[in-house]
Amino acid sequence: MVYTFSNRSVTGDRKEYAIVRFSQEQQNKTINMLRREFLGAAGLALGATAYVSGSGNAAAATPSSNAIEAGDWAALRNLFPLTRDYIQLSTFLLASHPKPVSDEIDRHRRGLDENPSDYWHEHFQTIDGEVSAAAARYMGGQGRQIALTDSTTMGLGLVYSGLKLRPGDEILQTTHDHYSTDLSLANRAERTGAKIRRISLYEDPATISEDSIVSNLRKGISDSTRVVAVTWVHSSTGVKLPLRAMADAIGEINRKRAEEDQVLFCVDGVHGFGVEDQDVSKLGCDFFIAGTHKWIFGPRGTGVIWGSDRAWQQSVAVIPSFSASYGVWLGQETPDQVPVGEHMSPGGFHSFEHRWSAQYPNQRRAGKDVARETLYADEQRIVSRPGVF
Ligand SMILES: Cc1ncc(COP(=O)(O)O)c(C=O)c1O
Repeated sequence: MVYTFSNRSVTGDRKEYAIVRFSQEQQNKTINMLRREFLGAAGLALGATAYVSGSGNAAAATPSSNAIEAGDWAALRNLFPLTRDYIQLSTFLLASHPKPVSDEIDRHRRGLDENPSDYWHEHFQTIDGEVSAAAARYMGGQGRQIALTDSTTMGLGLVYSGLKLRPGDEILQTTHDHYSTDLSLANRAERTGAKIRRISLYEDPATISEDSIVSNLRKGISDSTRVVAVTWVHSSTGVKLPLRAMADAIGEINRKRAEEDQVLFCVDGVHGFGVEDQDVSKLGCDFFIAGTHKWIFGPRGTGVIWGSDRAWQQSVAVIPSFSASYGVWLGQETPDQVPVGEHMSPGGFHSFEHRWSAQYPNQRRAGKDVARETLYADEQRIVSRPGVF
């Protein structure tokens, strides 16, 4: 929604440095949508007292102070407590929590600090499903297909550890991947003897073409390749891979193979996530893994894995989830009652105030798709709005 680096914006007044210079009409359109969203949040926040009634008053939401007047870019900037001493270009690294996110974190933190046991019991059975449903509205797919993690790295580690492979099956990765993919795969290989092979999809980013990337991928896939692991946007070069075309090539190969020999296409998507208006379930990949504490300004220590149904079927959980799977263990539910994403979300008691804040309360309550409406309000590349799903 707000901060991106247009061709014209990173000059002049430092205080305004990162605001996209839209036309007045575009600005008004975006801000009006934003304002509606914040007003919605404020109204619903007032109703939130009942939601936390078992935990005393501290966790009750206060009326939102996040409403922004149309065109008030300074107020928008002020949602982020970033120092003005630097030009902040670190969205690719770690988010500053904008006010709506820190308000939500504070609300949950107060609830947990006042009465940890009751507050947790009030929420734990339902809130992961609500966050996953909100994530699906934002990123596509279905809530049940989304696992909640703490980071891209955790998601990659879980996916590459949990894939069911037969002896001799090969994982094909690229020379362009980030440390987190490299080490997740290397660890898998060390633990299980899985075979990993690396190919280069391009030599010189300046002369890159979609055809050459797809052709190199096709050449790289062997009869024993069962997994292709890639990174959507490369942190080293900024190259964004043509995932759809690559998925189509893999699909063509898969159509000639028996089901058990087909290739799964797995993507570290963190640097495209929130930058592109993309339904990730339509990219053609089988797993899309991202952190939500970079480009979409989510709570630090949050991330997602979206998996197609066939991908999840070929995976096992690595860390026990504290979701409905706990109920299965207690004999109260059957495995088919547990959404696969919940089953694959690592459990244990952790920083719930962050995970639970990875959604807007108004979305959770009104079930509206306000995120997409606000995010992609016009044709410009809009990085994100100050919040998450
Ligand atoms: C391509 C890529 N993948 C993964 C990561 C790690 O992300 P996270 O902090 O969400 O684990 C980074 C950078 O930090 C990255 O550039």
